[in-house]
Order: sequence, then structure tokens, then C-alpha cells
Amino acid sequence: MKSFSKEEIKALDKIYRLNLINSVSGYKSANLIGTRGEHGENLAIFSSVVHLGANPALLAFIMRPASVPRNTLTNMKQSKKFTINSVSEEIAEKAHYTSANFAAIVSEFEACKLTPEYLNNFEAPFLKESKLKMAMHLEQIIEIELNDTMLIVGSIENVYVEEKALTDNGQLNLNSIETVAISGLNRYHKVEEVGNFPYARIDRLPKF
Ligand SMILES: Cc1cc2nc3c(=O)[nH]c(=O)nc-3n(C[C@H](O)[C@H](O)[C@H](O)COP(=O)(O)O)c2cc1C
Repeated sequence: MKSFSKEEIKALDKIYRLNLINSVSGYKSANLIGTRGEHGENLAIFSSVVHLGANPALLAFIMRPASVPRNTLTNMKQSKKFTINSVSEEIAEKAHYTSANFAAIVSEFEACKLTPEYLNNFEAPFLKESKLKMAMHLEQIIEIELNDTMLIVGSIENVYVEEKALTDNGQLNLNSIETVAISGLNRYHKVEEVGNFPYARIDRLPKF
């Protein structure tokens, strides 16, 4: 097995290190974050959205350092509202290109041929093509001093999901809506389910 020590990682070529360390945490979720600000609508791909807690219903994601203009960050600070829209197979390529460094006045919806949609008078745009989308309220921005990134914490105001994805116990069947996963910074994957196991109890372990 090949190994990379802390010192070796530090000495790696910048792009190689970026690709390696962006891959080691495994498959990540693929979401497009929609916002609206004084310069118009914005849509950008994020692979760091995580579940923070169910009650209250909270999600969070990592925002890169604000050393360059971050339109998503600027817009959500202004309006306190944003949307999280899952990425399915048929829009994966368009979703990827929302990461290009578009000027604030350019709408990634237009540039990447994706469709904005407004639901229930919510201020931020949703992605019409998305089959699972959330209206979010910005709750907290936690600064990570180590590398100047930020953990953006939002509460869920509304969930919209295609009915075929809903199962009896509330868990979503993400395969039924062709949700993709991301590895590294540019690979998009179909996901195959390998198991659906019951709640793990020490008195009910299977015979391995
Ligand atoms: C696959 C992929 C995942 C990304 N994930 C994140 C992320 O989790 N956090 C982040 O700050 N930027 C992430 N980016 C970069 C943003 O998409 C990119 O900086 C984008 O231009 C931000 O747009 P904005 O300036 O309009 O907000 C990712 C890019 C790609 C291609």
C-alpha cells in the first residue's frame, strides 16, 4: 500500500495534493446552492453539504475562504435565504460548470442552461430540474481559523421531493431520482445500494 506522510503531503505538487485530499473523505453529496442578491440570481455546486441534526432540521456546508468574491456567500449574507438542490444524472455536467468563475452579474442558470424556479414566495431561486430541493434560512457562519474556511449552518424551511423517492419510514430512495455522488472535485458517480440494514443493536447482531 502506498503511504503519504504529513510532510510528504505538504511537499506534494499543489494540484496533486488538492485532488488527493479532496478524494480521501469518500463519496460526497452533489448539491447546487441557489441565491439571489443585488446582482441577480446565482447557482453554484457544493460537495460539502452535510446533515447537522434532524430536530431542529439543520444542514451545513463548507464555504471556501472569502479571499476572492464569493457570490453565494455575499447573497446569502444579504438575504439570509438560500436553496439546496440535489443533482441528478441528467444535469450533472451542467451542474459541474456552475463552478466556473462567473462574474456576479452573470447568472449560472443562464450560462449553464438550467432553469430558475420560485416556490411559495421564497426569496431565493430553486432549480426546476432538481428532484429534491430545500428552502433554507441562514442561521450561523462559523469561521474555521485553521484555513479561513467557514461552516455555513442553515435551517430547513421547506423540503420539496418527488413522491416516488419517499419511502414508508420517511427515508428517501435517492436512487429513484438518479441522485449522483461526487468524488474529488470533478468525478460524478451513479450510486448502487449494497444494503439496507436495521437500526444496529448490540443484542441483535447478525452472525458475521
Ligand atoms: C465538484 C465541486 C464541488 C465543490 N464544492 C465546494 C464546496 O463544498 N465549498 C465551496 O466553497 N466551493 C465548492 N466548489 C467551488 C464552487 O462551486 C465555486 O467556487 C463557485 O464558483 C462558487 O460560486 P459563487 O462565487 O457564485 O458562489 C466546488 C466545485 C466543484 C466543481
